[in-house]
Amino acid sequence: MDTGSKDFARRRALLATLLAGIGAVLTGAALYPVWRFLAPRKGAEAQDQVALSRDQVPLGGAHFFNFRGRPAVVLQTRAGHFTAFSAVCTHLGCVIQWQAAEQRFLCPCHAGLFSAEGAVLGGPPPRPLESLAVSLRDDQILVG
Ligand code: FES
Repeated sequence: MDTGSKDFARRRALLATLLAGIGAVLTGAALYPVWRFLAPRKGAEAQDQVALSRDQVPLGGAHFFNFRGRPAVVLQTRAGHFTAFSAVCTHLGCVIQWQAAEQRFLCPCHAGLFSAEGAVLGGPPPRPLESLAVSLRDDQILVG
């Protein structure tokens, strides 16, 4: 083999190595966001429970908060009795509002109505509000 064809073969191998490296970097850059999306979050269990102060929820009132990245609400319907729900309407996903005078939830999008227990009272929502687990510890309300 002459010198020219050896140089050509070395350049060809170098170019192939460079292209393979660039391909590997681009593949990694494309797959990393997918992996981040699918991989379980660190400390996800700890974030699954939200602690609220009892003072934040007046008797007959509601307190809205974020639960697992979505709107939620906790009510105190009787003294010391707390219930929590997803604040996302089961019709098309609008955020419900608490009507203290009527002791019910109103969905402002299509006038869906829910009771203080989350049951559908009227309008288009097909299902009750999603109920969330509530426990009490000292002066805190733990949701989730
Ligand atoms: S989104 Fe709530 S009633 Fe339609």
